[in-house]
Amino acid sequence: MIKEDLVAERIAIATYSEIVRWLGTDDPTTRRMMEELLATEEEHADDMAKLLSRVRK
Ligand SMILES: [Fe+2]
Repeated sequence: MIKEDLVAERIAIATYSEIVRWLGTDDPTTRRMMEELLATEEEHADDMAKLLSRVRK
């Protein structure tokens, strides 16, 4: 279950990163919002990765 959650977080990271790149400089407000969401998902992925490494020990 943790592994699947990590995969889901990484899919969200890839998707949000693509949205940020697509927005470029055309819509700075939306870009900032997406960058904040991206940062949150990166924290979630880090948490899942740490949890997974502890479970596997
Ligand atoms: Fe998340």
